[in-house]
Amino acid sequence: MVARSSRRSLRCEARKVALLGAGGGIGQPLALLLKMNKFVTELALYDIVGVAGVAADLSHCNTPVKVTAFTGPEELAGCLSGADLVVIPAGVPRKPGMTRDDLFNTNAGIVQALVQAAGKNCPQAVLEIITNPVNSTVPIAAETLKAMGVYDPKKVIGVTSLDVVRANTFVAEARGLDMKDVDVPVIGGHAGATILPLLSQTTPAVTFTEAEKKAMTEKIQNAGTVVVEAKAGKGSATLSMAYAAARMAESTLLGLNGEPNIYECAFVQSEVVADVPYFASKVLLGPHGVAKVMGLGELDAFETAALQSMLPQLKAEIQKGVDFAKNAK
Ligand code: NAI
Repeated sequence: MVARSSRRSLRCEARKVALLGAGGGIGQPLALLLKMNKFVTELALYDIVGVAGVAADLSHCNTPVKVTAFTGPEELAGCLSGADLVVIPAGVPRKPGMTRDDLFNTNAGIVQALVQAAGKNCPQAVLEIITNPVNSTVPIAAETLKAMGVYDPKKVIGVTSLDVVRANTFVAEARGLDMKDVDVPVIGGHAGATILPLLSQTTPAVTFTEAEKKAMTEKIQNAGTVVVEAKAGKGSATLSMAYAAARMAESTLLGLNGEPNIYECAFVQSEVVADVPYFASKVLLGPHGVAKVMGLGELDAFETAALQSMLPQLKAEIQKGVDFAKNAK
């Protein structure tokens, strides 16, 4: 990811961001961060419950972002109309003992309905999907938009930036580096072994023994579960997720505004790995969303083996999403 200090703010165009699931654990702090973002002009909050209070609360912060509230399906079109960016954290989070895939039955339908509404009301918008399981919800979104004839692969993005944020933090701590200088690309997907940090490509260069590499990789892969267990039934990562999603949203808006050299890791339609139609890797963000999916660079032997062994899981989770969307009425 591009270091914050290098982010210029040349242009501030009018930008409407719609946040779906804005009343939730991620939605509320993310709404606050977006209310503080100078690239946002209007922040439209949507949820099935409780969002009017969040909007009233936020509207008292003296930043220029206009906050509006929309509750329930009959108000969804108003939330989405004119949006440049739609961020979706709507849906249930994990409880201890659950995998992200265990959320599929509830969240698949939620994402599909929200994406259908976005395809109808703001087909030009970039969609950022936070709702888990991301490995399946992104294919659901893509297939849903394909069926509506409005799919643009540049505009459907699975948010995996929390994996990068975690990897950057853990590597900086382990090596005593300045947090803001560390960048670890994370590829693959967003569940268990499909989360693959490329420690060999860390900036600045760091070295790990084979044992350290394995331990660090597992720490990054299990970080979400550590939070779920620590919260003991009261949800999953919300504050760090809001931080990571706010960063992804800001990068996307910078790209839309024509700022050059904005890179993030994200789960998108991709051809970087044969037979895997969606994959997380570094992408260049531009005026229409994803401008370019970057290659993986050179992997070391550990990363090559980890990539090969996670592909069956990733493929199966992608296919589950594709099948759901294709079989939906
Ligand atoms: P939460 O339960 O606190 O909030 C979810 C919100 O979605 C609630 O306010 C709920 O009313 C709303 N909602 C439910 N159905 C809806 C619908 N049909 N339309 C609009 N809103 C609806 O959950 P939390 O903690 O905010 O997590 C949300 C999602 O984000 C979960 O699926 C979780 O697994 C995922 N997540 C993803 C991460 C990632 O790295 N991509 C990291 C952490 C969580």
